This record gives sequence, structure tokens and C-alpha cells, in this order.
Amino acid sequence: QTIYLRDYTPFGFVVEEVHLTFRLAPTSTRVLSRIKFAPNPEATDKTFFLHGEDLILKSSKIDGKKVTPTVTPEGLTCAVPDKPFVWESEVEISPQTNTALEGLYMSNGMYCTQCEAEGFRKITYYPDRPDVMSVFTVRVEGPHPVLLSNGNPKDSGDGWAEWRDPWPKPSYLFALVAGDLVNFPGEFTTCSGKDVELNIWARPGDEGKCAFGMEALKKSMKWDEEVYGREYDLDIFNIVAVDDFNMGAMENKGLNVFNSSAVLASPETSTDMNFERIEAIIAHEYFHNWTGNRITCRDWFQLCLKEGLTVFRDSQFTSDMRSAPVKRISDVIDLRGRQFPEDQGPLSHPVRPESFQEINNFYTATVYEKGAEVIGMLKRLVGDEDYAEALELYFARHDGQACTIEDWLKVFEDVTGRDLTQFKRWYSQSGTPRLSVSEAYADGTYTLTFKQHTPPSPDQAEKLPQVLPIAVGLLNPNGDEVVKTTLLEMTEAEQSFEFRDLASKPVPSLLRGFSAPVVLERAASRDEQVFLLAHDTDAFNRWEAGRNLARASLIAMVRDGAAPDQAYLDGLAALLRDDDLDPAFRALMLSLPSQSELAQALYEVGVTPDPDQIWQAKETMADTMARTFRDLLPKLAFEGKVTEPYEPSAEQSGKRSLGAAALALQTRLDGGEAAQKQFDKADNMTLQLSALSQLIQAGKDAKAVQSFHDQWKDDRLVMDKWFGLQVGAAHPAQAVDRAKALTEHPAFDMKNPNRFRAVFGALAMNHAGFHRKDGAGYDLLADWLIKLDAKNPQTTARMCSAFQTWRRYDADRQSLMKAALERIAAQPSLSRDTTEMVSRILG
Ligand code: ARG
Ligand code: ZN
Repeated sequence: QTIYLRDYTPFGFVVEEVHLTFRLAPTSTRVLSRIKFAPNPEATDKTFFLHGEDLILKSSKIDGKKVTPTVTPEGLTCAVPDKPFVWESEVEISPQTNTALEGLYMSNGMYCTQCEAEGFRKITYYPDRPDVMSVFTVRVEGPHPVLLSNGNPKDSGDGWAEWRDPWPKPSYLFALVAGDLVNFPGEFTTCSGKDVELNIWARPGDEGKCAFGMEALKKSMKWDEEVYGREYDLDIFNIVAVDDFNMGAMENKGLNVFNSSAVLASPETSTDMNFERIEAIIAHEYFHNWTGNRITCRDWFQLCLKEGLTVFRDSQFTSDMRSAPVKRISDVIDLRGRQFPEDQGPLSHPVRPESFQEINNFYTATVYEKGAEVIGMLKRLVGDEDYAEALELYFARHDGQACTIEDWLKVFEDVTGRDLTQFKRWYSQSGTPRLSVSEAYADGTYTLTFKQHTPPSPDQAEKLPQVLPIAVGLLNPNGDEVVKTTLLEMTEAEQSFEFRDLASKPVPSLLRGFSAPVVLERAASRDEQVFLLAHDTDAFNRWEAGRNLARASLIAMVRDGAAPDQAYLDGLAALLRDDDLDPAFRALMLSLPSQSELAQALYEVGVTPDPDQIWQAKETMADTMARTFRDLLPKLAFEGKVTEPYEPSAEQSGKRSLGAAALALQTRLDGGEAAQKQFDKADNMTLQLSALSQLIQAGKDAKAVQSFHDQWKDDRLVMDKWFGLQVGAAHPAQAVDRAKALTEHPAFDMKNPNRFRAVFGALAMNHAGFHRKDGAGYDLLADWLIKLDAKNPQTTARMCSAFQTWRRYDADRQSLMKAALERIAAQPSLSRDTTEMVSRILG
């Protein structure tokens, strides 16, 4: 059944007040509700329908009198009076057997909830839609030392606790946690002087991994006050770490629930990348308190209203806390790695989708990351001041409301006087625009002519021109910048821009900072890229020039059997020698485009990508880099050394990532000698893991893999790394066999999403390994997706995207992937989630 944006109608009733009582028991939890409804004067449809799934209805009453509603697997309907009334019900649910991890479930003996998007209906009968907002009072009863819910603590006693959330919220922000937990406490005084109690709750034994998250939380609270003027609004803010969780984390009001991988960290067990990700996710969930909770979404089509904005805000936060250019480059790598393939394949959908079968399938890179890019463009177009003013207006005008993208754009129109009708296409039109450019120079005038074109996608045949903010700088041939970064606003399919009074023909630096999420098609000469690599003042475009050269060279290697581009390697060497450049930036310069990105690039120039050839080309390139930079490596390794005690700071992480990049090249020369030394001496996970990764790639890992296992077998999060790395870093010929063997390891647990993703996410990422010619990779993944679907549809459906690029490849691989997908589709009682994903991918 497909749901459409255009069919939206308001619910027939408003909810004035919700009282819930939970009597916790693993297989027979009782949930009692008392809910005050009143007719909604703004609604025409007055059907009293409450969502409810997998509930056993024990009793129901209206105004104290027993009623007998009509119950279906999706919910119930009931005749109700034409005036305010009180609905009461008692239902039974079974958290212990809830392996979907949606609704109320158990994870290692602890109770927790995940209600977004539509999990609350698995807890009790309710209008489970984001535009129905109410205040909640919750009583939790159970023999657990810690009993938590949203809002402020109201009262508690032996075996019970009551919570009251004074802020009206939709049901998807409801949360409950109960168990034997320990807290890592903290405190924050808000800008208006209110003291807020902070806690990170974890299982006993994990309390030593909470300090970093707590600091990140305090920094986030401060940053949101300073940059967005947003103050926290409750007496308490709780974060709980949960081992079994489908996503990263959840912004439930006053009670954020986190995948333990997204909050728990220590130098011994977590990498620099883990720390940075944790800081960003804590910020993200905290920022939702305003962008998501105080102002929420009218319906799930508006998901990007809160997610795009909150991702944008968390990326601003990371840029402020760490290095802005490094963050921008990393975000673009991620966008190209995850969002572009989605937008250019069968799963393509607009930032604001117009239909869906299962909303959980739309928590995508397009909604989140492209959604954030759209806000970045809007800010670039209106300028920082107007952006700030528009946000002020947004918070003032819509606090306490469930809003739409129209509401969001309207505040910008009202503040700036701009007409954003065309800009709104970014929300409704799917696909990645392609931008080509030509240039002309005469009599001191330089003209850039851009053409934009968005290829048709399965969901939309016709595409219209987008508003493209194109940041451009011009350099003169000796490397000086003659025109500083200027924002061109392109609105037509084809448009020219002139720069006058130039002394000579300049070299353009286009799309600085990746000012719009497009594919820039430019027949730029290699010399020009080499020039920009050496001289561009825009850090992003300097990196981009190197990336363009690397991509072009790798494509030529695959397609024409060319040798690695010497000009690229020389240009790179010059940068690597420049120790005024941030080590983190130099590490990024050393990274090559992913195999999947190269496959797409080849496909676009009409070459059927061969995963083995792509892998081989990257190997050759890396071997050549190692030989070419041989004399430089000791210097880079030295600059990658940190002598101070471990800190997950941007500065130290940057050094270590340069060190890791140098080690990767060194390993190609010494067969793993330096990596083994680093592995043996490592006193933090970043160094230990980068060394292990190199030993695996060098095929010298037998001892290290065993000793790593023995050292960390009792730490789940580290063991996820152990599982993942053995598949991810494996030689392509071995990846499938390793994945298969690891599923037989006693510590493999398909019910734990982190563990399942460790193995199979890594397999899907091992490009040449997954695309093994005989189809063994496809078959193995399909086997396990079929098994997992019966337990956890959400995680299964997400992982189907490993197949989304199937049409890129040769006929044999295509038919093998198609067969795997069809085998999944043919399973009896396949979940709605997976059914929708597979059928969209098959097209
Ligand atoms: N709102 C959460 C976040 O972005 C994501 C939760 C999504 N969960 C889901 N089951 N779809 O922070
Ligand atoms: Zn979010």
C-alpha cells in the first residue's frame, strides 16, 4: 500500500493529555493508557482510528464505560461522542521477543524503545502521526534500579517512577528505558542561568567510556546557545547507550537513546574517527531538541525538515570544533560515496519524497545529506545574516508546531523578499544535476558559460533547471588570485557570466567548497588541474584538483591500460612536502577515489566497469605512490607521530591519519614490517587498528588477528571492528570466504545490528570482493538478508541497497544480482520494508 503526500488530511481529534502506565515484564508487559481527546475543529474526517500493531487489547473504555472497538492488524476504530472524551485502554506486549527493535524491546536485559518513525503503535493504541502533539505523563513500574522516560522526573518510589514532559510532542519522540544501569553525571548551566542535570547511562562496566560523550554534549549545548540562540528547556537531559539499535541514535525528548557505538568511547577501544563521529551524533541528537522536537514535522514526507536542517547544524558544529576544510572534504567524500549512487540509481527520490510504502526506507542519504546540502545552498544564496534572521523567525513563528517545507521556505521568503519557487525544486526533483562549462577570453573579459542538465530518473522523467549557487575564484597564470570567491547564481539551463578587466586569461577555480551538490563535468585540462593542485587558495578545490587527477588517471589505467599519471604524482609530492599544510589535509590528499566511485565514473563514460580491473588499477596506483614517495615516507611518518598523551583532538587525529596513510604506503615496500611494529607497540585503538588493517592487506595477519581477538573478546564494540576489518580489508578473492567463516564464529550474532553490519556492511564495501565474478558475494548476502528479514526488517531493508548499482555491471553480474534480488523477493511473508526496497531496486 502506497501513501502519498498529496493525500494528507489532519486527524479528526486533538490530544489534550496522555497518561501512560507501564508494568514491565519481559513477555507480558502491560501498558495502560488514559488519553483526553477532543474533536479537531480543523478536520473534516472525524473517524476515530488509533494505530496499533502487535498489541493484545485487554480492555478499552470511553469516559469510564467499556467499549468494543473494531480491531484490525493495523489499529482500531470506535464510535465516540461528538465532544471531548477520555479514552482508556490496557494492552499486553512482549518486549523480549521483539527482535525488530522497534517499539518497546529488550537489549541485554534492559528495556528500551525506538518509536521513530512508527514504533509507538507497537506500544499502545494511539494516533501515531507526527502532527498529533500532546503532553505526556508516564509511570514506569518494574524491579529495576533505573526507570526513565521523557521530560522531568515527577516522583518515584521503590519499583516505580513517574515522569512528566511539559512540552507537547508527537508519539515518535516518546521513550522509556529501564534496567540495571549506571550513570556518568554532568551539569550544564544555560545562558539564562538554569542548571540542567546531565547523565549518560550505560551498562555496568561501560561507565569508563562516557566522559568524551559528556564533554561533547556540553559543547553542543553551548554551541547551540551561541550560534543559534537555542537554550535547553528541561531540568534534565539523559542519554542512554544501548547495544542493540537499528540506527545511530534517537532524539527522544529529554531522553536520547544511542546505539552504544555512537556514544561510548575510550582511547584504548575507539579510533579517532569513532570519537569524531560520536561528537557529531551527540550534537545532532541534541540539536534536534529545537529542530525536530520543539518544531516537528507535519507528516513523514517532511522528514528532511528536521533531518536536513539538523545534519546541516551538526556539520557546522563539527567545522567549528575541528577543521572546516577537512570536514567539508569528508562530507563531500561521503556524499559522493552514499548519496550520489542513490540519486543516480533505481532508489532515486527527492529530498522530500512524494510517496512511500514504508517510511523507514526513507531515512536515506538523500533526505539527510542532500537535505543538508540544500540548506547549505540556501544559506549561501541569502547570506549569513539573512540566514540567521530567517532561523530566528522560524523558531519564533513555528515553536510548538508540526511544519512543512513550505513553512520553512516561507520564513526565508519573508526575511529576504526572494521568491523561492524555483529553489523549491531541490525538494521535489530527484537526481544529481550535471553541470558543464566552457570558457572564452577576449579583450580582458573572461566568460564562463554553464549548462545544467539532470538525467531522468525512474521516479521522474522530466527535470527542470535548478537554482545553482556556483562559487568561483579566478587565478592568474602565476598563481595569484585575481578574483576572490564570488557567488554566481545560475537559474537557467544555460547561462553565461562575465568577468571584466583582467590582464590575462585566468584559470578558473569552479564550485569552490562544493557550493552545490552536482557533478561538475569539465573538460579541464590536466595542466589546469595540476596548476590548481599547486595554487588554489580554496582548500576544498585544491583537494578536488588532486581527486580529479587521480580519478582521471585511474580511469585511463582501466580503460586504456595507461600508466599512473606522473604529473599527478609530482603535484602530490609537492603538497606532501609542504609541512605548513595541515597533516589531516595531506592525509586526505593521499586518499584515492573509492572503487565504487570509479565504477560509476567508468559507467558514465560508457565503459562497463570490471571490479577486478578497478581493484588492480588502485593497487598499481598505490604501489606506484609508495615507490615514488619512498624517500618522503619517513618524513610523513615522523609528522604523523604524536608524542603527547592520546587525545582525540582534531590536531592529533590529523597527525595520526597522515601517519596511517604513510604506513599504508610503507607496507607496500616492506611487506608489513613497520605495521607489525606499530601493532605490537600500539597503546590506542587508532594505531592498533590502522596497523591491523595494513597487516590484513599485506596478508600477514594470522598472528595479529588472533592476538587482537584475545585482547578484546569481551568488548563488543571492539569486536565489531575485528569482524568488520577482516572482511573489509581482505583481498577481494578472500572477502566472501572470510565473511562466511565469520558468520560461524561463536561471537557472531545476527540479532545484533552492529555485528551483522560489521560483517555484511564490510562485505558490500569490499567492492571487488562483493562483486566476485561467480556471484558468491551476492548469494551470501542474499542468504543472510533472507534470514534477517524474519527478525529485523528495518536493518534488512537498509542493507538491500548493496544491490542498488546492479545495472552498472556486465551482463553476467547483472543476472547474478538480479537472481539474488528475485530470490529475496520470492520469500513468503517477506516484510513490507524489504519488499519495497527489492522491488524498487529491480525497477
Ligand atoms: N531521528 C533519528 C536521527 O536522525 C533517526 C531515527 C530513525 N529511526 C528509524 N527507525 N527510522 O537522529
Ligand atoms: Zn536526525
